[in-house]
Amino acid sequence: MPHISWRLFLAAAIALTETTKDHKSVLILGGGVAGVIAARSLHQHGIDDFLIIEARDELGGRLRSKEFGADGRQATIELGANWVQGTQEGNGPVNPILILAQKHGLKAAKSDYYNSIMTYDETGLVDYMDIFKDAQDAYTNLTIAAGVRVQKRKVDCTARTGYSLVGAKPKTPQEMAAEYYIDWEYAQTPEQTSWIASSWANNFTYDVDQGGFSDGNLLSIDQRGFKHFIQAEAQTFLSPKQISLNSTVRTIAHSGDGVEVTLANGTRISGRYAISTFSLGVLQNDDVLFEPPLPAWKQEAIHSMTMGTYTKIFLQFEEKFWFDTQFALYADRERGRYPVWQGLDLKNFLPGSGIVFATVTGDYSQRIEAMTDAEVQAELIDVLQTMFPNTTIPTPTAFFFPRWFSDPLYRGSYSNWPSGFVSPHHTNLRANVGNRLWFAGEAMSIKYFGFLHGAYLEGLDIGTIIAKCVREHECKSLPVIKDVSNATPFVV
Ligand SMILES: Cc1cc2nc3c(=O)[nH]c(=O)nc-3n(C[C@H](O)[C@H](O)[C@H](O)COP(=O)(O)OP(=O)(O)OC[C@H]3O[C@@H](n4cnc5c(N)ncnc54)[C@H](O)[C@@H]3O)c2cc1C
Ligand SMILES: *[C@@H]1O[C@H](CO)[C@@H](O)[C@H](O)[C@H]1NC(C)=O
Ligand SMILES: *[C@@H]1O[C@H](CO)[C@@H](O)[C@H](O)[C@H]1NC(C)=O
Ligand SMILES: *[C@@H]1O[C@H](CO)[C@@H](O)[C@H](O)[C@H]1NC(C)=O
Ligand SMILES: *[C@@H]1O[C@H](CO)[C@@H](O)[C@H](O)[C@H]1NC(C)=O
Ligand SMILES: *[C@@H]1O[C@H](CO)[C@@H](O)[C@H](O)[C@H]1NC(C)=O
Repeated sequence: MPHISWRLFLAAAIALTETTKDHKSVLILGGGVAGVIAARSLHQHGIDDFLIIEARDELGGRLRSKEFGADGRQATIELGANWVQGTQEGNGPVNPILILAQKHGLKAAKSDYYNSIMTYDETGLVDYMDIFKDAQDAYTNLTIAAGVRVQKRKVDCTARTGYSLVGAKPKTPQEMAAEYYIDWEYAQTPEQTSWIASSWANNFTYDVDQGGFSDGNLLSIDQRGFKHFIQAEAQTFLSPKQISLNSTVRTIAHSGDGVEVTLANGTRISGRYAISTFSLGVLQNDDVLFEPPLPAWKQEAIHSMTMGTYTKIFLQFEEKFWFDTQFALYADRERGRYPVWQGLDLKNFLPGSGIVFATVTGDYSQRIEAMTDAEVQAELIDVLQTMFPNTTIPTPTAFFFPRWFSDPLYRGSYSNWPSGFVSPHHTNLRANVGNRLWFAGEAMSIKYFGFLHGAYLEGLDIGTIIAKCVREHECKSLPVIKDVSNATPFVV
């Protein structure tokens, strides 16, 4: 008898030591920009008893680079984020990503979206810059009309409704491609995108008169990868014991006492607080299970925002045979069929690399993710043959595209605000569930959803709030709107 109870006592003591050992103040779930910056906020407020739990073998998340090209002719390319979007004008507000990029000596080139471009259609090189400029004017008109709607407290509609109401009704392949050159940034079509929120998103990042940073963009060509800026920043304050890499979270159990996560290998780690920075796509697709399930108001918010997909498809050739501009626009009769091309084999970019890439978005991304690489490559060669009828397009020396939509760690590229998503939904998307479970990441940013700076600012904000919770043993919850209702309900 005494023997048995001694063993029981020992087992209990060991169990106790183990839980205490793994019990952190804060678990940061995901090591992308939001996770790293949340950790930095905690550190800056004197809290170092946190753990970043990340599935991949490095920090950076959707800052993801790859060595690409034939043997002996490789270059680092960006599969995910590539631009610092909206930099700074004069002494105005500055994109916080620009500050970090400069601090860590990131190599980047000025990206000239609107002037360094050539236009093509199904007959080859054709100048339709007049149509291209009209599409930009129509977009400006769309954002102005959105501002009027906000002022008059009118209901949101789709960007397509907005375009039609300002008189822009693209029909020809050239008109559709010119319009696409604006909506590719939302990774979805105007039919799928909120008129008001997309106008706000544009203004808050690019329009200095509306509080934006600037209309300038820098494209990272750093051969350490764009991720370098966040990994170098992490090195300034993180120690290895504060990061658990190769650790995939399966479940998040939460209560008023704290949070316990279970990893794919069965290990449990507990914390007083947790910040989930997983992408909206991960939250939508049950790749991580919450116990108990998230409340109805939270689930409605998660499923009402959209995860878009933005896909870059890279080709390398022996020799450059394409445009000398940074960009090319190709107008196919099918909207969204390989419309945007970017050359990297350029002075100030990656000269001599032989690399060119096309971008597709939204439903078209999903379409190609279901195809084989060989099938997609054949379609691209076909389009290049159409764009350059006088050149026999050679076989590429390398080919690659990432499948963001199918990847269980992302399930898309970044969030996009649809017209059925209303401000109270956003309030709920951002809100904590109970006092212990918090959310951060690009999708939670009302002004900068989709962007790196959105992820940064959410990490900063939520990290600061939790630091206060830990220090003062008390948390001030973010607002929640339990029932999101219509001002004017439907009547039949
Ligand atoms: C193709 C593409 C192009 C883009 N272009 C730009 C651009 O040019 N400029 C710009 O500003 N923004 C761009 N973005 C958006 C930008 O990359 C994101 O907004 C930002 O990186 C999101 O950071 P985050 O910390 O919110 O999320 P993430 O970076 O997604 O961080 C979350 C982390 O959680 C990890 N994770 C997921 N599931 C689990 C799990 N179950 N267990 C453990 N870990 C898990 C992920 O691996 C990831 O590291 C682009 C994104 C993509 C994909
Ligand atoms: C993570 O896994 C990769 C590949 O499986 C391995 O090379 C690396 O050493 C691991 N890193 C850590 C910190 O466990
Ligand atoms: C934008 O609005 C202006 C002023 O109403 C109008 O003159 C112009 O034609 C519009 N442009 C486009 C492309 O719709
Ligand atoms: C966007 O900026 C324009 C000015 O360029 C402004 O007229 C408009 O009201 C703004 N739109 C919104 C939705 O704030
Ligand atoms: C499971 O993963 C964690 C974190 O990566 C690691 O510390 C632990 O040793 C692993 N456990 C087993 C049983 O493999
Ligand atoms: C392609 O060749 C045709 C016929 O020789 C010529 O008219 C056309 O200008 C050429 N196009 C280009 C882009 O060089």
